[in-house]
Amino acid sequence: MRPAAEERSEGGAAAREFRFSAEHFRVISERIYRFSGIRLPEAKHEMVYARLARRLRALGIGSFDDYVRFLELEPAEWEHCTNALTTNVTAFYREEHHFAILAEHARAHGAEDGPYRVWSAGCSTGEEPYTIAMCLSEALPQRAFEVLATDLDTQVIAHAREGVYPLASVQKLSPERQKRHFLRGAGRHEGRARVRREIAAHVEFLRVNLMDREWPVTPGLDAIFCRNVMIYFDKPTQARLIERFAALVKPHGLFFAGHAESLLDNGRCFRLKGQTVYELARRAGRAP
Ligand SMILES: C[S@@+](CC[C@H](N)C(=O)[O-])C[C@H]1O[C@@H](n2cnc3c(N)ncnc32)[C@H](O)[C@@H]1O
Repeated sequence: MRPAAEERSEGGAAAREFRFSAEHFRVISERIYRFSGIRLPEAKHEMVYARLARRLRALGIGSFDDYVRFLELEPAEWEHCTNALTTNVTAFYREEHHFAILAEHARAHGAEDGPYRVWSAGCSTGEEPYTIAMCLSEALPQRAFEVLATDLDTQVIAHAREGVYPLASVQKLSPERQKRHFLRGAGRHEGRARVRREIAAHVEFLRVNLMDREWPVTPGLDAIFCRNVMIYFDKPTQARLIERFAALVKPHGLFFAGHAESLLDNGRCFRLKGQTVYELARRAGRAP
């Protein structure tokens, strides 16, 4: 595989602005893996080149040799490099069936002690945690709830905190939800919409790397959303995370995974409830 990739990268060099060898790819992808858990297979060679070439241009750096050296000298550049290599695709009410399940769960458990608490781990630009907050405001109109929203990527967290989105992405929601949860921009804000303060006030955004030994998360969560994040990690990393997530949810707590993700922990921590929603295995094992 290596020589083929080398050939591909060197062969394509004529058409490229910067030479990007298999060794450059290896150094960067290994470091990204150690830092973020994200696996960048060789098939991502072109994607890594395209995204980092933009970074080289922005910095005025003339070659990947120099960029790799710069990364070693300037640890802060790893933040930009990582931001450039994360995949942040998301949407409001993505996998809508999850929010019907969340609403039903919140109605059943939202009256218990303390606020109903949800963690959106790998929240990207905020559409997921704001959707959770919209869903809970509809399901628990008289009850307290909190949404913790975290991501590794500092750029998406900054965007999420702003809570401003292109109108086109908001217009996919029902007119009633658009009106209830968003303010439409006018004048120079035309074409954009802002999440209403009443919703945003329930959401706290923090930068958290899921690879960190400690997470600033208080146990006793009612639900965790970690959707379309673990798909980028390898199996041992996924297994470690699943164990840590399981320790943070209440006995009745739920875990929401992405549509293409299955928690292959053999039912040790979580067992499937349905539609990529999981409940604690020890609870499922109890006598009815
Ligand atoms: C495809 S988005 C998923 C967004 C949202 N959960 C959804 O399903 O619509 C994946 C997110 O995971 C984040 N991510 C990747 N590795 C991470 C890590 N080690 N710690 C925290 N977040 C991470 C990325 O920055 C990205 O924003």
